[in-house]
Amino acid sequence: MQYKQEYAKALVQVLGDVLTEEQITIMIEKPKHDKLGDLAFPCFELAKQYRKSPNRIAEDIASKLDLHIAEKVEPVGGYINIFLKKAVISALTINKVLKEKGQYGSSPVTSKVMTIDLSSPNIAKPFSMGHLRSTVIGNSLALIADKQGYQVVRINHLGDWGTQFGKLIVAYNMWGEEKEVRKSPIKELLALYVKFHKEAEVKPSLNDLGRAAFKNLEEQDEEALQLWKWFREESLKEFMKIYNQLGIQFDSYHGEAFYNDKMDSVVKELQEKGLLMESDGAHVVEVENFPPCLIKKSDGTTLYATRDLAAAIYRQENYRFDKSLYVVGHEQTLHFKQLFAVLRKMGYEWQEGMAHVPFGMILKDGKKMSTRKGKVVLLEDVIKDAITLALKNIEEKNPQLENKEEVANQVGVGAIIFHDLKNFRLNDIEFSLEDMLRFEGETGPYVQYTHARAASLLRKGNYRYDENQQLEMHDHKAWPIIKLLLSFPEVIDKAMNDYDPSQIAKVLLDISKAFNKYYATVKILDEDNLYSRLSLVDAVKIVLNEGLRLLGIQAPQQM
Ligand code: ARG
Repeated sequence: MQYKQEYAKALVQVLGDVLTEEQITIMIEKPKHDKLGDLAFPCFELAKQYRKSPNRIAEDIASKLDLHIAEKVEPVGGYINIFLKKAVISALTINKVLKEKGQYGSSPVTSKVMTIDLSSPNIAKPFSMGHLRSTVIGNSLALIADKQGYQVVRINHLGDWGTQFGKLIVAYNMWGEEKEVRKSPIKELLALYVKFHKEAEVKPSLNDLGRAAFKNLEEQDEEALQLWKWFREESLKEFMKIYNQLGIQFDSYHGEAFYNDKMDSVVKELQEKGLLMESDGAHVVEVENFPPCLIKKSDGTTLYATRDLAAAIYRQENYRFDKSLYVVGHEQTLHFKQLFAVLRKMGYEWQEGMAHVPFGMILKDGKKMSTRKGKVVLLEDVIKDAITLALKNIEEKNPQLENKEEVANQVGVGAIIFHDLKNFRLNDIEFSLEDMLRFEGETGPYVQYTHARAASLLRKGNYRYDENQQLEMHDHKAWPIIKLLLSFPEVIDKAMNDYDPSQIAKVLLDISKAFNKYYATVKILDEDNLYSRLSLVDAVKIVLNEGLRLLGIQAPQQM
C-alpha cells in the first residue's frame, strides 16, 4: 500500500539510529484482522537492542510518532498498529483512480526490452491444452510487462522443424490424400502421423526413411520443402482461428525452421570455444550437474536445443533484450536448464536475463488431457462449447440483452482464460466448462458480472466524473474496497516479479466480493451524497476493467 512508505518515514524519525527506512518498510505488515488497524509495525526485533519488552518499546515509539495520515495509533502486543484516516485517504484514492483511469497502476515507459516466447504449438498437430496455457499465461505476462513500462516482443516459436516432419512427409507420400488434408488439415495430418508410428512398430525401417526425409528437408530438397511449407501454412490457418477467438496477437512467428540457416555458425562457435565434445558419433556440450546437451545427432541433423541456442542468440542480437521469458510447461525444465548453462559457458552474460516460466497441466477427471492415440480434443470446439454455454446462461439471466452473441463470446472466452489464470501457474488445473462459466463463485463471469453491475449503477445514477467536485467519504463500509484499490499497483508489481498473473485474478475476486457486499448493504442510488458513492463505483469499475484487461479478458458493459 502506498501509505506504507509514509508510515516508514514517520517511524524512521524515531528509529533512525537503529533501522533504515528501507528496513522498516520491509518490516511493516498487514494486521491479521481489519479491526486491529490498517498497518502494523512489529517491535520484537528491537527488544534486544533497547533491553525492553516489545510492549514497552511499542508504547514508547507510539508516543513519539508524528503521523498525519493516521487517525489512531495503537500499541498492542508488541505491535504499533495504525488506523488510516479513512475519509481523507478514500477520497484521495478514488480521485486518483478516476483521474488516471486505465493508467492507474502503470509504470513509466522505459526502453527496457522483454521478449516473451509463448504459445509455440507444433505444426501438423492439434493445438493442445498445454499450448493454451502457454498462450494465456504468456499473453497476460506480456500485458503486465507492457504496463510495467517494458517494450514487449511476443514470439510464437512454432514447432515447425524436426524429425517428425520427415516422418510426416514419408507418411503423406505413402498414404496421404491432398483433398483430405485440405478439408481438415490438422485431423488428417495427425492421423497420418499416428499411422506412421503404428506401422513403424512392426516395420522399424520406416523410421530410417523418416530420418532420411528430414535430412533431405534440412538440406533444402525442393520437393520436401514444398510439402513442409504446405503443412505449415494449413496448420497456421487453423491456429489463427484460435488466436482470433482468444484475441491474441504476436510480433513474430519465427519458429524453429527459421533458425535452419543460423545453426552452422552456432555449432562453429561452440567448436571454437572448445565446448563441443564427441559422444558416440554425436556432438554434445557438457553441463555441470545435468546430462550433456545434445547439439548434433550422429547423422548430422540438428535438434530442438540447437535451434533454441540459435534463437536465443538471434533474439539478443535483434532485440537486445533485458529480459527473455519462455512460457513453457514444467516438463521442459531440464531443457531450459541445459540451454541456459550452455549459453553461460559460451560467455554470454545476457543469459542472466533469461527465465523459464513453467506451468502445470490441465486435467480432465484428474487425468492428463491427451491428444495421443488419435483421440483429439480440438481446442476450437472447446471454445465453441464455452461460448454456447455462456449464451445459454445469458438467455436465462438477461434475455433482453441486445448484443447477446458478442457478450457470450466475451464471457465464454473470458471464463476459459480466468479459470486458468486464477491458479498459481505451477498447479495442475481441472478442466470443467460448467465450473468456469458459473456467474457466482471464483470465476471470470463473476468478475465480469460485477463490472457490468457497476456500469449499470453508473447509468442509472446518470453519473459523470467531475474533477472539481469534492468527495465526502465518511462511509466506513467502503473501506475494505478502498484498501483493495490501493493495493492494485503493488499487486501488479508482484505479479511481474513472480511471473504470476494469478495475483491479479485474486485481487479482482477480492474487489468483486467486497463490492458486492457493499452493494448488498448500502443503498448506492440514494439521493444523499450520491456523487461520492457513484465515484467509488466508477473507481471499482475502472480497476476491474483494467485488471481483466491485464489477464487478456474483456469486460462487457451489460450481461
Ligand atoms: N513447440 C514446443 C512444444 O510444444 C514448445 C516451444 C517452446 N519454446 C521454445 N523456445 N523452446 O513443446
